[in-house]
This record gives sequence, structure tokens and C-alpha cells, in this order.
Amino acid sequence: MNAAVFGSGRGSNFQSILAAMKEGRVEGVTISLVMSNNSSSGILEIARANAIPAFHLSQKQFPSEEQYAHALLALLRAHAVDAIVLAGFMKRIPAQVIKAFRKRIINIHPALLPKYGGQGMFGIHVHEAVLQAGDRESGATVHYVDEQYDHGEILLQERVPVMPHDTPESLAERVLIVEHRILPAALTRLSAALNNGDKK
Ligand code: GRF
Repeated sequence: MNAAVFGSGRGSNFQSILAAMKEGRVEGVTISLVMSNNSSSGILEIARANAIPAFHLSQKQFPSEEQYAHALLALLRAHAVDAIVLAGFMKRIPAQVIKAFRKRIINIHPALLPKYGGQGMFGIHVHEAVLQAGDRESGATVHYVDEQYDHGEILLQERVPVMPHDTPESLAERVLIVEHRILPAALTRLSAALNNGDKK
């Protein structure tokens, strides 16, 4: 399975996928390209350091979302991409791309969806909300991407305890460890599903 990885930030989740591939914990997957809306993102640096085609693409470069979507689809097709992994990607995926890759886009979210998902629930804000609510546990979720933010069918989820003196930062750190474990595992499941041809 040829996977594209989209990210906007430092790329630690992408790094965890590369490490899992090197250790043989992810099989049947090739990373065909990495795309970021942020030309100075860490994830593009990691791609370049691993000789993986790295692209900066942003809707701002296009007069309309339609033309951005067409450019994105052309890039994905040019690299024979079968599936897309959102690893800290902060931008909306155009509906045309979701349609073209139905049940073949996965996203990692740093909370126990369906709680703490949706518009505005990203990065540190998620952990602030969990602490604010007084929850005793949090965690990370990998889900299929559909037209609504953080809404699609869940592939994998893993819980972590919230400790009494947690700050948003300390909770984020504990959740990130779980993210780095479940994203590669979810990628393996997606690859098995696609390689077994159930492209339903
Ligand atoms: C992760 O916490 C992920 O859950 C969220 O954005 C962050 C990306 O971190 N979507 P990184 O760029 O993978 O280090």
C-alpha cells in the first residue's frame, strides 16, 4: 500500500511511523510522499532526511478550494497513492479528496473521540478541555476521516490515566506516547484491509 502523509508541524507521529517500518512493526506500506501546508514544518524536514518526496501545498496558493483539491488529487495520483495518513494536519481535507479516498484516510487525534473532537479541538486545547472537565482518563484515537471533523469510524483507541497534578503539557506528553504506538498499528490494519482488497 502506497501511503501519503499530511502534516503541519514537527512530525513526531510521522517519525514514529518511519521507526515502526524500520523495526518491521509496519508491513506492506510504502510512504510515497509527505505534504505539508507549512513550508518550514519539521515533517517536511524529516521526509527530506529520509529521501521521501516532500511537498508544500496550501490552499492559499490557489484561487479556489476546487483548484486546490484538483492539485492535491493530481499529486496523489502522480504518486499512485492508495491511502492518506493525517499526522498532525491542521487543515480541512477537501470533500472531493475525501470522496476519492473514502475509507482510505486516517487521522490521529489526541483524545478519546467522540469526546473532545471537532472544530477548535486540536493540540493543547484538547488537553486543557480534558483537565477542565476533571476527567480521570484521556487517550488517543485513530479514526477514518469523513466530511466532518474528528467524526469517522474509529480504528484504534488507547487510554491513559489523568494524574492529579497534570498540566495540559504533561498530559499531552503522556498521550503523545500512545499516539506514537497506535498510529503505526492502525496503518498496519489499514494496509491489511486494502491489500486484502476490501476497498468497500
Ligand atoms: C499530535 O498530538 C496529533 O494528535 C495532533 O497533532 C499533533 C501532531 O504532532 N493531531 P506531530 O507533528 O506528529 O509531532
